[in-house]
Amino acid sequence: DQYKEREVTDLRVLQGDIATLDVDVIVNAAAPGLGGGTGVSRAIHGAAGPDLFAAATALDPVGRGDAGITPGFALKARWVVHAVGPVYVTGKLGEDKVLARCYRRALELCVEKQGRSIAFPAISTGAYRFPKDQAARIAVETVRAFVGECPDALDQVLFVATGGDNIRELTAALSAQP
Ligand code: APR
Repeated sequence: DQYKEREVTDLRVLQGDIATLDVDVIVNAAAPGLGGGTGVSRAIHGAAGPDLFAAATALDPVGRGDAGITPGFALKARWVVHAVGPVYVTGKLGEDKVLARCYRRALELCVEKQGRSIAFPAISTGAYRFPKDQAARIAVETVRAFVGECPDALDQVLFVATGGDNIRELTAALSAQP
């Protein structure tokens, strides 16, 4: 018929603990070795249980800007993408590109598993000290570019943060004209 229904991917910001979310994929802000740590990693591994630790460490090596995927085990999420973000040093060492690659790889892995919904933490903005405003812009830009290329692939992308700073920056990035 003339008016073909058109699905659009819903992009939104959500305040809370990413480990609790009922989505197809949650993304972990992982470290090399994928053995867990503080912040997002501690929340996800704590909620998923020891099977996640075994599956994640078995993915090693995963380089910076890359990611691997495991089941979610005890989580509500079906899958966990373990993305290793850049450590922010000067901002002139290609940190932007490495961070963008994390987002893109995570989206690709989600689609490979036929996932329709994915939740991202603000990768690298904690222990890895990436400036939150710049990280939020990269996150939103990279997701928008992917959704533009693959408009039918995903139903929902959530940008999740516990802290007000990240929530404010992500909301601003999402409100900015593409
Ligand atoms: N849900 C959502 N966001 C969270 C949560 C949570 N449960 N816990 C922390 N955050 C926020 C932090 O406030 C921070 O802004 O996620 C952002 C990312 O912080 P980190 O978890 O420190 O991730 P990152 O900066 O990428 O550093 C990764 O930290 O835990 C270690 O093993 C990890 O060495 C690796 C490094």
